[in-house]
Amino acid sequence: MTLSLNPNRLPPDSHSSQLQIAPHRWPGLIQAYWPYLPVSDQTPVITLMEGNTPLIPVPSIADRIGKSVQVFVKYDGLNPTGSFKDRGMTMAISKAKEAGAEAVICASTGNTSAAAAAYALRGGMRAFVVIPDGYVALGKLAQALLYGAKVLAIQGNFDQAFDMVCQSAEKYPVTLVNSLNPYRLEGQKTAAFEIVDALGDAPDWLCIPVGNAGNITAYWMGFCEYHAQGRCDRLPRMMGFQAAGAAPLVTGEPCPHPETLATAIRIGNPANRDRALAVQAASQGAFNAVTDEEILSAYRLLAAAEGIFCEPASAASVAGLLKVKEQIPVGARVVCVLTGNGLKDPDAAIKHSQNQVHQGVEPNLASLATAMGF
Ligand code: F0G
Repeated sequence: MTLSLNPNRLPPDSHSSQLQIAPHRWPGLIQAYWPYLPVSDQTPVITLMEGNTPLIPVPSIADRIGKSVQVFVKYDGLNPTGSFKDRGMTMAISKAKEAGAEAVICASTGNTSAAAAAYALRGGMRAFVVIPDGYVALGKLAQALLYGAKVLAIQGNFDQAFDMVCQSAEKYPVTLVNSLNPYRLEGQKTAAFEIVDALGDAPDWLCIPVGNAGNITAYWMGFCEYHAQGRCDRLPRMMGFQAAGAAPLVTGEPCPHPETLATAIRIGNPANRDRALAVQAASQGAFNAVTDEEILSAYRLLAAAEGIFCEPASAASVAGLLKVKEQIPVGARVVCVLTGNGLKDPDAAIKHSQNQVHQGVEPNLASLATAMGF
């Protein structure tokens, strides 16, 4: 991995006068990928040290495919607010700060709102987040509230919230930090850099959940940039997966009433639709739908067989890989993106776990031993 540390551009709280960065200390993705990002000495870096998330081999998933494939997950749920959104938000908020913004706004199925709230707070800006009432996982809502955002719940879905925030950003002094904000994708493309840095080349396939279609666009930007710089020899096929009840890129038309238990990707009219279609064409990729049942079984499998807890929407990448496994070439290297942490949605975990709390253990050793089966 090449880090281009610029000691003059450290976050304000890093005591740069006594700067001593241990070689293993990750500086946050803006610092790490400085030459690849639209930043300058005028950009105040607002960071929570996001990025540098692990690429974890998942042999039990590979075994289910056979054909000597290698499968990894990019566990982006280990970012500071628990999702890949932090990658985009460090850039969007830093650039908003640079431009003198005092407030930001986003529509969100939950993760964007948590990231926007955290980074805005860190940058001394107000955050307004508009969410579909009743369809945001508990952990995400808790984060946005605790980070101090103004959380505005509408009786409508994400697509309606998105239209509203776009209009607000035109009319009021608030900067839009949804993925139409170009800096979001600039930050998010660094996940592709990290994958290439870890593997030494791009994978054959990149499997990714798709909602508003910003992330698939960002990954492709990242792979293409690295390829143009000679940092990888190949480009992956981009395999996007949507929930069957919210699959406009699969059906080819907007879905007016999206429904899925993977609430993060409960989106019927993706803002980045055209860009995502261009990615599909350029990478010879595909969009496929996975049912909620398939999502849940991949979600449980990742936890039970690999010890990896992601949120349901994230498991769509693995569910999708398993669904189209016949198409995978022998010996292929595949990366599935796990976009969000399982702790975001504890309700889903408890509801859909096949394991249960063993109730009624008396507070004595005999009772415990009996319950343990000894
Ligand atoms: N996975 C998770 C966990 C997400 O939160 C999202 C999007 C996606 C996948 C899809 O990414 O929209 O770039 O295609 N969440 C947005 C939000 C919509 O508001 O948090 P995408």
